[in-house]
Amino acid sequence: MMKTENILVIGGTGKTGRRVAENLIQEGHNVRVVGRNTSPAFDWENPGTYDAALKDMDRAYIVYYPDLAVPGSREAITTLTEKALQAGLEKVVLLSGKGETEAEACEDIVANSGLNYTLVRASWFNQNFSEGAFLEFVLNGQVALPMPEAEIPFVDADDIADVVAKVLVDDRFNGETITVTGPRKMTFGEVVAAMAEGIGKDIHFHPITIEEFKAGMKQAGLPDSYVWLFGYLFQEVLGNPDNQEISHDVEKVLGRPATDFNTYVEKTVATGIWNQDLSHTV
Ligand SMILES: NC(=O)c1ccc[n+]([C@@H]2O[C@H](COP(=O)([O-])OP(=O)(O)OC[C@H]3O[C@@H](n4cnc5c(N)ncnc54)[C@H](OP(=O)(O)O)[C@@H]3O)[C@@H](O)[C@H]2O)c1
Repeated sequence: MMKTENILVIGGTGKTGRRVAENLIQEGHNVRVVGRNTSPAFDWENPGTYDAALKDMDRAYIVYYPDLAVPGSREAITTLTEKALQAGLEKVVLLSGKGETEAEACEDIVANSGLNYTLVRASWFNQNFSEGAFLEFVLNGQVALPMPEAEIPFVDADDIADVVAKVLVDDRFNGETITVTGPRKMTFGEVVAAMAEGIGKDIHFHPITIEEFKAGMKQAGLPDSYVWLFGYLFQEVLGNPDNQEISHDVEKVLGRPATDFNTYVEKTVATGIWNQDLSHTV
């Protein structure tokens, strides 16, 4: 029988953290989910909150927010891993971005921290269209995004969570970098067509430039750092075809194939998330 571990899930209310916590609880582990509104609270911006979150934990899933590519991430990850070592943690799993060279400095910090670790590099998530930045576009039936030619091996957050929950407690993956993608590459146009078909509603894809997308974000009042981040992710991650290769690591770790986008659409339709009507909101 597997040992019961005390596992910290940072970002445990988000797309992957929530699923990781559910999986670990189901496996019988003791899970502490933290974010800015939990008790104890954990705020990346306030290192004074790190100790209480780490206290008495054996392992941790680390989700940095908004992205390991933003300024300040290195200092935060350095402080967290130092404190984790002091607190006696054995192992951490860091969520990173596939093709994000800017995130590699943080990966190196974790790798050199003295803790056991596994790095999980994820492609763009399917759930960006149902729980993230692009949900509103889908609800409005108008998806305006740049990089229409990019072929993206979108990955399902359920697959990421299954992989993370497994490698967190399985020391055979110590020191490894696991790259998680979906089973096929899709353009934004293909993704939108698949959602339109599955939901049974008209959803239109409008290719725009990165500058137009950023201008729209600015107009919506989003902070400059966020606007910069999206520009970076479109340009550097989606703009480089080398980043788009399919990985078979989901199958390697889980012994089952990665989830297809059409399966994601089917299960998301069943949740009702896409039934919200935005026309009555102000
Ligand atoms: N979306 C993608 O396509 C994609 C692809 C590759 C990698 N990633 C990486 O995935 C990570 C995001 O993971 P996710 O999508 O699972 O999470 P998410 O859905 O974006 O949720 C963010 C989580 O972080 C918490 N959070 C926000 N600000 C925080 C702060 N200042 N201090 C502490 N916690 C904070 C949130 O909780 P509270 O708001 O309650 O604090 C929430 O639990 C990022 O590092 C991103 O680079 C994303």
